[in-house]
Amino acid sequence: MPRYARHLQDHTIVNPFPGLPRLEAAIGRKVVSRIGSNESMPISKHPLSEQWGAALYELARLYPDPYASAVRERAASLNGVAAGNVVVDAGADSLIGLFLRARVSPGDVVVCTAGTYPTFRYFAEGVGARVIEVPYAELDGVLCNDLPALARTANEHQAALLYLANPDNPTGTFHHHDAIATLRATLAADTLLLLDEAYIDFCDSAERQGVLAQTIRLRTLSKAYGLAGLRVGYAIAPQEWVDKADQIRTQFAVSSVAQAAAVAVLDAPDCATRIITASCALRDELAASLRQRGLTVLPSHTNFVCIVYPDADSALRKQKALLQQGIAVHRPPHPAMGHILRVTAHPDASQKSVLQCLENG
Ligand SMILES: Cc1ncc(COP(=O)(O)O)c(C=O)c1O
Repeated sequence: MPRYARHLQDHTIVNPFPGLPRLEAAIGRKVVSRIGSNESMPISKHPLSEQWGAALYELARLYPDPYASAVRERAASLNGVAAGNVVVDAGADSLIGLFLRARVSPGDVVVCTAGTYPTFRYFAEGVGARVIEVPYAELDGVLCNDLPALARTANEHQAALLYLANPDNPTGTFHHHDAIATLRATLAADTLLLLDEAYIDFCDSAERQGVLAQTIRLRTLSKAYGLAGLRVGYAIAPQEWVDKADQIRTQFAVSSVAQAAAVAVLDAPDCATRIITASCALRDELAASLRQRGLTVLPSHTNFVCIVYPDADSALRKQKALLQQGIAVHRPPHPAMGHILRVTAHPDASQKSVLQCLENG
């Protein structure tokens, strides 16, 4: 039996609004008249239908399927797992918050790398966790998550949860699936491994592994599918974790429009492939141009590059110079990462003026 947050351990919460698709499945027929959900009646010339068409208006007017069943099924088949191993929420960010709430009680220890994707720490503090950070390992100038040190720290503190972004943000570095399996095997069974795989689509497809005990894999449609603004992500997890997450999830958080868009991109055979191929090519060109200019660029398994400067002042100067031209690059807020800049693989990033600024500030 997995260990959940204290108040959830022996308590099953029942969703008061399981939605029409589940009702239809229970009664074995379509609901043809939705007069029980207090949605707006349709009107002619609604601003949405005028601007974006009747189909968008109709999606917007009606409550979504709280279980996002159509997205679940597609995500499950894409990853070769059962639909019962998938939970959909409003982006990988929401899923980080969701699994923190499912596992962590106030005062529990959670472990992550110092300077990794900061939303984890932000949400962990919000559930009252005690956050313990482990420095990046530096091997031949390459920063990467220190898996043995993370496992050691988690075990020493009997951590409720270990967060690992793999590939990592902001470094872009990556650990192969066998290293992740070793990490899992080294951790105590009660420590939930929250693997944030937001960028896994940019890695070899063999790295897209399925269900692993006591492990949650987070995926997103924000990066390789072009839907960041619509907010759709999913987690692949053992069924008991999916069931618990479903009990505490904001059930209508993924809008009808977002679900329909997710189905469209997951059904389009080459949507992700085209984005991934173009992003990786741009990323590699950008990294090569920056290296030619003498900059240190970490090997990236994502859709961005991470430039390591000798110190935080140099990185800040370059960031400010770009901002003066109205160009935003990211400098992580964590004090351990002030000396790096993260630049997205985008045609704008390869412009000569941008490259010059990244080199000279
Ligand atoms: C490591 C990581 N996790 C999660 C996210 C957020 O993903 P989503 O847009 O699905 O919330 C990002 C976005 O940059 C990210 O870098």
